[in-house]
Amino acid sequence: MEFKDIVMQRYATKEFDGRMIEDSELYALLDLIRYAPSAFNLQPWKIKIVSASRIKQNLRPHSNDQPQITSCSHLLVFCANTELEQLVERVSRGLYGSGMPAEAIAQYTEMMKGYIRSMTPSQQLAFAREQVYIALGNAVNGAKALGIDSCPMGGFDPAGYAEVLFLPEEFIPVVLCAVGYAADKPLPKWRLPREEVFF
Ligand SMILES: Cc1cc2nc3c(=O)[nH]c(=O)nc-3n(C[C@H](O)[C@H](O)[C@H](O)COP(=O)(O)O)c2cc1C
Repeated sequence: MEFKDIVMQRYATKEFDGRMIEDSELYALLDLIRYAPSAFNLQPWKIKIVSASRIKQNLRPHSNDQPQITSCSHLLVFCANTELEQLVERVSRGLYGSGMPAEAIAQYTEMMKGYIRSMTPSQQLAFAREQVYIALGNAVNGAKALGIDSCPMGGFDPAGYAEVLFLPEEFIPVVLCAVGYAADKPLPKWRLPREEVFF
């Protein structure tokens, strides 16, 4: 599929038909998400994959009772990973073997640490949340590229999700992406005209 067709044909699916995505297809999608860009390549996201019906049923009341939660194949719960200093160390380790000289890695690591430490905890969370939405973009367009339908969803209660999913406190639920196979039809696409968007 051409990228233009992916963008124009993807839509926020309101009802899925309940069919499960094959593991091989799911892993292909997870890789497209995993390769999203992020500032400093910190990848400050953790994505909980929910496929069990019982857990989806328990999550639905915390999601404004939206039917996508239970009719989708997999529900991806995109969380911000607020352990940014640990991620700096992880990225730094990842750079060894990349061909980058050790001294340059050490300098880069200090620069990243300085940037992270210059932020308050709420700024760090905002920073991580911003990156999560980039991964979400890969998820919805990546899914369409693989013939999978999706719905990005912000209408849920993060505290309820943290409780049902026993999330560690450093992982903050930000946004959901329900994926599966559509049982509905898209509405005509409407967007602001070009001249109202670009100036
Ligand atoms: C961050 C975000 C949160 C959203 N939350 C919901 C939601 O909770 N429920 C829902 O049905 N759609 C949700 N949507 C889908 C939007 O309503 C939809 O993308 C928009 O109306 C444009 O339609 P389209 O995606 O079909 O082109 C969300 C989309 C985004 C990007």
